[in-house]
Amino acid sequence: MAQILNPNTKAQATSPIDRMQTLLADDLSAVETILSTESASPVAMIPDLSHYIVSAGGKRLRPLVTLAAAHAAGGANAATHNLSAAVEFIHTATLLHDDVIDESDLRRGKPAAKAIWGNSASILVGDFLFAQAFTLMVRTGSLEILGILSRASSVIAEGEVHQLSALGRNDLPTEEYLTIIEAKTAALFEASARAGALSSGSETHVEALAHYGKNLGLAFQIVDDALDYGGTESAIGKSVGDDFREGKITLPVIIARRRGSDDDRAFWDRAMMVETQKPDDLAHAIRLIRQTDAAQASLNEARAYAGLAKAALMNLPDSDYKQVLLDLADFCVRREN
Ligand code: IPE
Ligand code: IPE
Ligand code: MG
Ligand code: MG
Repeated sequence: MAQILNPNTKAQATSPIDRMQTLLADDLSAVETILSTESASPVAMIPDLSHYIVSAGGKRLRPLVTLAAAHAAGGANAATHNLSAAVEFIHTATLLHDDVIDESDLRRGKPAAKAIWGNSASILVGDFLFAQAFTLMVRTGSLEILGILSRASSVIAEGEVHQLSALGRNDLPTEEYLTIIEAKTAALFEASARAGALSSGSETHVEALAHYGKNLGLAFQIVDDALDYGGTESAIGKSVGDDFREGKITLPVIIARRRGSDDDRAFWDRAMMVETQKPDDLAHAIRLIRQTDAAQASLNEARAYAGLAKAALMNLPDSDYKQVLLDLADFCVRREN
């Protein structure tokens, strides 16, 4: 993103994600052990594919949010670890499914699992990891946590189906776009923070942390959608333009179309229909997004949600855990991957 917005921007020496990984190193190592053990199966394709995607270098954002939320609310424990592994499994399962649905060939800087093992294997191993997540949730011993993550799982699926039914709809209102991303992305961030906080055993800061998670998730997905046009393949580890090729209406497109000329609108109306899209259209779309400052406007929107996320933590007692959560909200807006 920085490349198209400000060519002089340099990545910071240590990101909040690095700092979170250091601060939560012991917890994270327990979570990594669970992720590895729980992807085992006598059916070799399951651990082969699972280890491939799990060890491909995901940011582990959701488990980090769960762990930091638990600490910020009172402390992490074995239930927090099982829960953190469960949210990463749910996330990984959605990515395995998502790359089939979106026909994406690159994930985490490597060929997507479906490009190696095929669509069926990617969907079925996604189902396996999803089911393993539920086993881990049961292990937390909390019906409330099970309820939170079960509900989030339904909402994610609803969001994905809603998005599918909105493909190519150039008149998609911003509010409906926000409803979609709240469901497909923010719901899991919210559940990660809410359940993490609950796992500490204290209820005091649960709502505040849940509110943080939801707004962080909204900011995160808006930036992801801007990166689909303004990022680089090497930084995002995914192909640039996947959303465009699929006719997915995201905030940068909504803004660029609204701000464009009649000719521009005619372009978007043709190009976002996959049947009438031409090979050079992505380059033109990126040009229009640049000309109309639509990426910058999307980032401003994301910044507003990051601000709401930070404001939600106002009454939490100061701690290193609260600080990394605050820093993470800022980082999500300026991230390049
Ligand atoms: C990708 O999430 C899916 C979205 C919600 C945009 P991440 O960017 O957190 O994926 P990994 O886990 O780091 O690969
Ligand atoms: C991610 O959405 C899928 C879910 C949140 C369930 P995207 O399709 O926008 O994410 P990427 O760009 O493929 O990572
Ligand atoms: Mg996708
Ligand atoms: Mg995307």
